[in-house]
Amino acid sequence: MNRGRFVVFEGIDASGKSTQARRVADERGARFTFEPGDTLLGAELRRWLLDARAPMTAVTESLLMLADRSHHVATVIEPTLAAGRSVVSDRYWASSMAYQGYGRGVDLARLRAATDLAIGDCRPDVTILLDVPVAVADDRRRRDDRDRFESADIEFHERVRAGYLEMAAADEMHWRVIDGTADEPTVSSRVDAVLAELVWPGG
Ligand code: TYD
Repeated sequence: MNRGRFVVFEGIDASGKSTQARRVADERGARFTFEPGDTLLGAELRRWLLDARAPMTAVTESLLMLADRSHHVATVIEPTLAAGRSVVSDRYWASSMAYQGYGRGVDLARLRAATDLAIGDCRPDVTILLDVPVAVADDRRRRDDRDRFESADIEFHERVRAGYLEMAAADEMHWRVIDGTADEPTVSSRVDAVLAELVWPGG
């Protein structure tokens, strides 16, 4: 049996990646999934990770994200791909590098090593970065009721965005950057063009 394809959407909060990830999964009959939190254990970790009342060190935060991810890979992503079904994930390893590494300042080399431990060989076929300026994303979000990441300062989100762009530029084989400020049909058609080129040639 052929292994399923693995597509990941990344971007800062309110970049529109969740909408695209759900749409693509739906249209391709793929398993939609997300991080952090798409398992029983993950939901519990997500609750702690996002709770604005529960501060933690950046390294603790990294390790909890990676705990969520390694469990997610072992119990959802790998078994689904091995069974021949494709997976579309809203966030994956690059979120840790962008947020905890570039954003919070955790050592990038050590974080990469820990990430490798968490995901093993389970690499996406393509990572699509929906890039939007921080000010645009900020305007899209509700101001009340923000979680621990959403309430972080503008500079933090600028570092996260720059980190994403740096990772994408460093590995053009596996990344594509799409301007997330365009209207939704335009973003969708650009996403579909990337998928037709790299993941599902011939439809
Ligand atoms: P998410 O559910 O994607 O939120 P949103 O839909 O608002 O983008 O992710 C929740 C938060 O978790 C988000 O602010 C980014 C953060 N995050 C990390 O900091 N590191 C990670 O490795 C992951 C997966 C998410």
